[in-house]
Amino acid sequence: MSLKNLKIKAEKEVKQARNLKELDNIYKKYLGKKGEITQTLRSLKNLPEKERKKRGKLANQVKQEIEKDVEKERKKLQSSIRQPADKFQKERVDVTVPGKKLSLGNLHPITLVKRKVEEIFLNLGFSIVEGPEIENEWYNFDALNILADHPARDLWDTLWLKTKTQKLLLRTHTSPVQIHYMEKHNPPLRIIIPGRVFRHEATDASHDIQFYQVEGLMVDKEVSVANFKAIIQEFFKQFFKKSIEIRLRPSFFPFTEPSFEVDMSCLNCGGKGCSACSQTGWLEIMGAGMVHPHIYKSSGLNPKMWQGFAFGIGLDRLAMMKYKINDIRLFYSGDLRFLKQF
Ligand code: FA5
Repeated sequence: MSLKNLKIKAEKEVKQARNLKELDNIYKKYLGKKGEITQTLRSLKNLPEKERKKRGKLANQVKQEIEKDVEKERKKLQSSIRQPADKFQKERVDVTVPGKKLSLGNLHPITLVKRKVEEIFLNLGFSIVEGPEIENEWYNFDALNILADHPARDLWDTLWLKTKTQKLLLRTHTSPVQIHYMEKHNPPLRIIIPGRVFRHEATDASHDIQFYQVEGLMVDKEVSVANFKAIIQEFFKQFFKKSIEIRLRPSFFPFTEPSFEVDMSCLNCGGKGCSACSQTGWLEIMGAGMVHPHIYKSSGLNPKMWQGFAFGIGLDRLAMMKYKINDIRLFYSGDLRFLKQF
């Protein structure tokens, strides 16, 4: 085989070597003691001088080129052997590096207040009950003695749902759950009903279109306004961890008789007047009263046998007082700068 072809063949084999051992064998095959190039070089001595010089030069050139190729391929193969080690080096985990701080979420202030209210009332012997946010007119109004043409209906500006069959609405207060519960349970009763309510009204610092209420209902043989006052005062004391100045104002609700509104001295301004309390120094926290006989009748109970009180606390307003927040709308703004403070 001519030196040129020998070189082409060697070059091809070198490139195809899959590992260092194969490469070594190829080296030996061409450049080892008995290698094809070595033998060609050895056989030069038998040639006439002129041709010896010419072929010798070419053979040496081919030898050097093959050596160079083999060396290049050796480096390549060696680096691919080293590669896994490099890879491990890159993937190495330093367990001593301080961890990355995870950003954790936190509970919404309304949730925190709701849980606290539930805890206090549970300790006072009340159970927690829930009801639907979508109601029909019967439960939200009629059963509660708020009749169709009575002006009292306007007190609860209603968000109606577009429905084809019966008229449905988003409940305007948690009082309908009183009826649901009394339909299924006989007194004595002690329950609270926390939940979201909706009203179609203009918003301001203390009014929103959706907010939370906690309904309370206690029915037994002999329950009076005195019991209500004692329970509520105890609740305020535990909730705010101090005695709170409250006042009962006569009011009107079709489902209680007598009815009153409970105001608390505004904690945001110490009773001096601020935006949270519309500059009055007092914030209306709940509506309440003694359960009207109509409600027992609506629920299938005998009004002559039972008496009790009911109340509806504005949970958002309670939270405003607890955390000294001067605008109710902040609760629903979704502003993380506000929400992360709790
Ligand atoms: C009622 O909703 C009655 N169902 C409460 C009740 C229950 C009376 C049982 C008697 C017996 P009122 O509309 O006043 O009442 O609302 C009760 C409380 O919800 C208010 O005292 C106030 O704290 C809160 N509230 C009322 N409207 C809003 C509003 N738009 N935004 C935030 N809180 C409100």
